[in-house]
Amino acid sequence: MTTDIFPTHIEKLIINVNIATFSEDFGYRPDSDNHNEYGAITESAIAITDGKIAWVGDTKVAEAEGQRSNAIEVLDAQGKWITAGLIDCHTHLVYAGNRSNEFEARLKGASYTDIAQAGGGILSTVESTRQADEAELYRQSEKRFKALISEGVTSIEIKSGYGLDFVSEEKMLRVAKQLGEDYGITVKKTYLAAHALSPEYQDNADAYIDKVCEWLPRLHEQGLVDAVDGFIEAIAFNLPQMTKVFDAAKALGLPVKLHSEQLTDMGGSELVSKYKGLSSDHLEQLGEEAIKKMAESDTVAVLLPGAFYTLRDETVPPIALLRKHGVDMAVSTDCNPGTSPVTSLLLMMNMACTLFYLTPEEALAGTTRHAAKALGMINKGQIAVGMDADLLLWDIERPADLSYLVGLNPLQKVMINGCWTM
Ligand code: NIG
Ligand code: FE
Repeated sequence: MTTDIFPTHIEKLIINVNIATFSEDFGYRPDSDNHNEYGAITESAIAITDGKIAWVGDTKVAEAEGQRSNAIEVLDAQGKWITAGLIDCHTHLVYAGNRSNEFEARLKGASYTDIAQAGGGILSTVESTRQADEAELYRQSEKRFKALISEGVTSIEIKSGYGLDFVSEEKMLRVAKQLGEDYGITVKKTYLAAHALSPEYQDNADAYIDKVCEWLPRLHEQGLVDAVDGFIEAIAFNLPQMTKVFDAAKALGLPVKLHSEQLTDMGGSELVSKYKGLSSDHLEQLGEEAIKKMAESDTVAVLLPGAFYTLRDETVPPIALLRKHGVDMAVSTDCNPGTSPVTSLLLMMNMACTLFYLTPEEALAGTTRHAAKALGMINKGQIAVGMDADLLLWDIERPADLSYLVGLNPLQKVMINGCWTM
């Protein structure tokens, strides 16, 4: 329990609460089997000032001290659980159109690759996204954004990558930024122009990659890029092409991440590790040598069970090896119209357990602490002094309920930056 001195000035106090802190301050250790699970503390209290967590400790101490301090608002949580705000660290939620026709085609036997090669897949969403004006793109994307936040998501990463020309990539990133501003949600904007070959460059992927590198500084100077991503795959780009994109990111001091080892192993994760990237995502075909490199570069493995499920993939990502080498694992929706039409992060936690054999503790770490790390956010994803006060109050008996329940949303209250928003 904390020995921190109780602050004299606090704005809000939450008492009688159980907390999944995921903080080393309370015995959580990401790399050790022998730790305090969830960093959990019971009969506790949290004090909040200036949007930050100012104190965490025993509820009796808080009740006594709170009366002497000037706490302007006290919430009695009556023994419920608090976690950090959930973080969806890999989404493509800004897009226009719909691909349920491909869902039907796949049910009749077509594969994801067949559809992509016949001009469907990502390129079909590119066409709809280019056609939609900014207001229409916002309107279509807002539905998905709201669905995610209704389950307690307080930070969301949103990628471009359905524009594949300068103005459409710019439009996507502007919509992502606007959604964050309008809803008071932290949005991290990721530039993914290296997602698929633009129709204008059909037989000239290298020329397209040169354009991708040229557009990046222009978007970055508008404040539209927080990180750079790409898709390494036989149906997308190769290692030398991604290296060029990563060099362009590095020149601007931007962190990188990658869609890698989803369908085949083309060495993507090793490349991300070489650039000390934030995360490598998908990873069904990932091998042990690359895992060792990820451990050395402290790159997060982002698991996307929605895409695995939708594509009826049969190869599970190498979870035991990721654990063995101490690679932190995040869990995300991959919300996109093709491989993961998913807007429930809680469902992804359940699928991470059922399909990938994560423990419920790992699944929750994967949508809080490790998801924050996958986005380079050092002030989020844990409950400890100095962290942002993005907090969720849940009507559950145990933290495992968040992964166990399917289709029930036990969220009761949401605090973002120290303000109750629900
Ligand atoms: O994360 N892998 C590449 N990109 C997306 C799929 C995009 C799409 O099919 O529209 C993914 O799975
Ligand atoms: Fe993705």
